[in-house]
Amino acid sequence: MAWVKVARVDEVPLGRMVKVTVDEDDIAVYHTEEGIFATSDVCTHATASLSSGKLDGCIVTCPKHGGKFDVRTGAAVTLPCVFPVETFPVEVRGDEIWLDV
Ligand code: FES
Repeated sequence: MAWVKVARVDEVPLGRMVKVTVDEDDIAVYHTEEGIFATSDVCTHATASLSSGKLDGCIVTCPKHGGKFDVRTGAAVTLPCVFPVETFPVEVRGDEIWLDV
């Protein structure tokens, strides 16, 4: 694991999410009222980009079949998703977002 700067805070407005790529792995970065979180961008149900879905509070909805994950924990909260999505530690350093990946 190593800390990597992935974005500036102003590139991920509150209530939005963006996809970043670190070492060929796609990661979704979410800016919620509870803070900034990061998970794998790949839905665990099938191949779909979570950052292309919808973020409602701390819950992201997959655009493919509507499965949902809690971005704080990675837990699957709605079928058809049952397996959690990987999460990554986040630090905000000044106006920069860093992930431990
Ligand atoms: S691919 Fe995400 S819910 Fe099916």
